[in-house]
Amino acid sequence: MSHICMVTDIQDGQAKAYPHPNPNQDRTVIVVRRGLNVYGYINRCPHAGTDLNWQEDQFMTDDQAYLMCFTHGALFEPETGTCVAGPCAGAKLSDVTLEVENGKVFVAE
Ligand code: FES
Repeated sequence: MSHICMVTDIQDGQAKAYPHPNPNQDRTVIVVRRGLNVYGYINRCPHAGTDLNWQEDQFMTDDQAYLMCFTHGALFEPETGTCVAGPCAGAKLSDVTLEVENGKVFVAE
């Protein structure tokens, strides 16, 4: 397991990107925080393959209900990574399995 951040590094309801601990993976890992839970996804939109964010750590809609791809506006459920609206509705972000121990977030490998 690779430690990538603390749960408290991410504001509740927000998301941040971290380098993937696997050197063969060139995309970052998005970590979304919901209370004490975190959810991890590869930062790659299933529509056209861009990063979701166009500015550093800008992933969430204003109401923090969804992750948004800023390229064409696809919306993703934070808890599942499923696209619920936009050009790739029904597609999913690639999961990154995370584990939390004592407030530390690890990528499970
Ligand atoms: S690349 Fe994400 S919505 Fe088009």
